[in-house]
Amino acid sequence: MTIPDPAPAGDTDRNAPRPSTLPLVEVIPSSLLDEPLAYIFADHVRQRMICSALRRFALSGKVDRREADMVVTFLSHDVPLDHEDEEMDLFPAVRRRALREDNLGVVFARLLEDHRRAQSAVDKIVAELSVQSAEVVQVSSAARELMQAYASSESGHLAIENGIVLAIARIRLTRGDLGAMARRMKARRGVAH
Ligand SMILES: [Fe+2]
Ligand SMILES: [Fe+2]
Repeated sequence: MTIPDPAPAGDTDRNAPRPSTLPLVEVIPSSLLDEPLAYIFADHVRQRMICSALRRFALSGKVDRREADMVVTFLSHDVPLDHEDEEMDLFPAVRRRALREDNLGVVFARLLEDHRRAQSAVDKIVAELSVQSAEVVQVSSAARELMQAYASSESGHLAIENGIVLAIARIRLTRGDLGAMARRMKARRGVAH
């Protein structure tokens, strides 16, 4: 894939870095942890927003320092929590309740492999956005390609989690399953029951 060079200074470019005090993503209210499937879905909306930001960074080749810091925080704090929620709680619960005809073996294998690969991409993106202390971070062409690749791979991953795993979870998980998930997800975040 060829990524165009950043626009020269002075060009009007909607992909250019834009200093902003607004957060790229909202904090999810901890009260939503009582509805763990809704919480995970809300987190996926935030992940899509971060992927949009990464696509913008990849096209521009430059990132405002504050936006870089917000993405680093999200990728190094929130994404690992989502992976733990899924690998420790959501996937095992759905696996326990799924019917044979749900055919989820291949789906879970693909999702776990995605997580493993995503972690390696996340580590590299975080390193790229963290090392520079300048107000505007210049992104290398390798990192720009990685950001595009990560964003498009995550888009497919989220579609499977939302469209298959969460859809089946809503039908098959019991009230007891959801209560146990809520307790564990709260504990993971240090939220009192
Ligand atoms: Fe997820
Ligand atoms: Fe996932």
